[in-house]
Amino acid sequence: MSAPQAGLHDLLATTPVVPVLAIDSVGTALPLARALVAGGLPVLEITLRTPAALEIIRAIAGEIEAAVVGAGTVLTPEQYRDAVRVGARFVVSPGATPALLDVAEASSVPFLPGAGTSSEVMRLLERGYGCLKFFPAEPAGGVAYLQALVAPLPGALFCPTGGINAARAPGYLALPNVVCIGGSWVAPRDAVAAGDWAAITRLALAAAALRSAPKAGPQPPGP
Ligand code: 3PG
Repeated sequence: MSAPQAGLHDLLATTPVVPVLAIDSVGTALPLARALVAGGLPVLEITLRTPAALEIIRAIAGEIEAAVVGAGTVLTPEQYRDAVRVGARFVVSPGATPALLDVAEASSVPFLPGAGTSSEVMRLLERGYGCLKFFPAEPAGGVAYLQALVAPLPGALFCPTGGINAARAPGYLALPNVVCIGGSWVAPRDAVAAGDWAAITRLALAAAALRSAPKAGPQPPGP
């Protein structure tokens, strides 16, 4: 694992759940982020799926000291550079391309590439990525699939994302190759639209309590 990736692994190991957020405005994103941080979920992924996403990352990075904000759904080298420019502390992609990996390797901001099959995992391990997003977690096989990767791919640790909810979360977090999980269930659309930040803090508190101590399990392989 490269030094930036080891740092990212250590960051992800501090939280059971990374909220994955697609938000339309800074005005909504700031109180939402504060509500999640207040509930004990400071590591946030803002997906580049809305026109306001970069502005939102810049605002959270500048205004909410306790938050650690990353950029998600990063598909191109240009988006990677944009995310770094506005202050993203980490970058997440549903997959990985050679062009994205080249930019990531030249950046001090760590990359969490996505993988959904054994061959994708193996290719990323070859390039030094031992900490991966498993996406889309539920459609790709869920807990049973990840469990099946433990023995043959012991060097790979995952942040599964996609289709996970409060009921499914404990099954993932119990796996030895799961560092943390990602999901949008802690920020439901209706609560966000209603500005019901107290409800979001309650969901975050429940998610944060899924694991109270940093994950103990296989350590990332050395350099
Ligand atoms: C992601 O971008 O990681 C996922 O779309 C989030 O998945 P979810 O909305 O099913 O939690």
